[in-house]
Amino acid sequence: MNVLVIGAGGREHTLCWKLKQSPLCGSLFAAPGNAGTASCATNLPIEVNNFEGIKNAVIENHIQLVVVGPEEPLVNGIHDFFLKDSQLASVGVIGPEKAAATLEGSKAFAKEFMMRHHIPTAAYAEFTSSNIAEGERYLEQSNPPFVLKADGLAAGKGVLIIDDLEEAKKELRSMLLDQKFGQASNKVVVEEFLSGIELSCFVLTDGKSYLTLPMAKDYKRIGEGDTGLNTGGMGAVSPVPFVTKAFKEKIEKEIVKPTIEGLKKDGIPYKGFVFIGLIKVGEDAKVIEYNVRLGDPETEVVIPRLKTDLMSLFLAVNDGRLGEVELEVEEQSAATVMAVSGGYPESYEKGKPISGLNEVEMVFQAGTRRDGDKVLTNGGRVLAATSFGANFKQAVEKSYKTLEKISYEGIYYRKDIGFDL
Ligand code: AMP
Ligand code: GLY
Repeated sequence: MNVLVIGAGGREHTLCWKLKQSPLCGSLFAAPGNAGTASCATNLPIEVNNFEGIKNAVIENHIQLVVVGPEEPLVNGIHDFFLKDSQLASVGVIGPEKAAATLEGSKAFAKEFMMRHHIPTAAYAEFTSSNIAEGERYLEQSNPPFVLKADGLAAGKGVLIIDDLEEAKKELRSMLLDQKFGQASNKVVVEEFLSGIELSCFVLTDGKSYLTLPMAKDYKRIGEGDTGLNTGGMGAVSPVPFVTKAFKEKIEKEIVKPTIEGLKKDGIPYKGFVFIGLIKVGEDAKVIEYNVRLGDPETEVVIPRLKTDLMSLFLAVNDGRLGEVELEVEEQSAATVMAVSGGYPESYEKGKPISGLNEVEMVFQAGTRRDGDKVLTNGGRVLAATSFGANFKQAVEKSYKTLEKISYEGIYYRKDIGFDL
């Protein structure tokens, strides 16, 4: 069966790398892909929101299964687009329809969903420009730090955590009245601050059954010791040492199960990954956010740990028989360390030649592109070096050894992935 992976990051390279290992995978395509996906798939120069372009490529290349990496095309309704088109209706899509993608596309929708299904999360209220005074009063009655979230997609930048009340009020006004985050902040969720350690839980579902994938933890800040600006993610480990069997069962019972049951009760079909961003507060887990895709760079540690054929999982999701599948997971720990362009997440240069890629394994490329026989940097996050080890420390050390073999001008990576575990 021919397969198309939509996206261009480390997540998509990892998915292609894994799918390519399956005897069930025929010709593999990536759109638009990067230099990494080009090593195991055929890149198609089509942007992720160009649904007509994707349609033509699917028909032309006899693609039967489409795996959607990023959230944007899902929130824009790519799955619905396939279902509505008679030429595409028989093509399987891994990634939820628009209704379910709203779990990521609207924070208010996600909070209402959690309240309705008694899923533990931070207390909250939502405001628009019409009840801004109420919002200010809500802030006055809350304890700092204040958490302000733009309702819609804001490229990972829509969450503000502010200590000072007056500044929080000012930001609330700026979000609602000056469209600080564009349309995304026409509505704002103000939420209780939760103090604890975060982790990522990925669930694969066909809408009836589900499989919980191995837990992972990512490192979002640019600087060591979790300091400095937020990034897309600088590294990850899986499993997460503090997730004991009992804690995992608690997450399953209080969060994963009610999430899948909630979707069913609400009549929201879901075929794909649910990414549950969790925070461990004392001995409890609470949901920080839902995403309707895999995380990046968590994918670079979670997917390599799956021993079960990924194609067989996707086919089971598509056919609605995930309940029959057992998940087999590699016991060893995996770690990934992300190498970025100098200056990222602020301004950085692209087009730097990368050397050493031929000598290494499990290096998943993110912001790269091919230029003849060269691979050039093409984004902030450039590549992720993944390794296995008896524990996360050994795995992280191996990733550092791998990265010593790779070079490009301005290469930077954190030397302390897993420091807090
Ligand atoms: P989100 O986009 O909702 O994942 O928020 C981005 C980041 O802000 C999260 O990964 C957390 O680090 C932080 N965050 C979000 N909500 C809260 C909260 N209620 N309490 C503490 N930190 C939060
Ligand atoms: N690593 C977090 C995310 O993909 O959103």
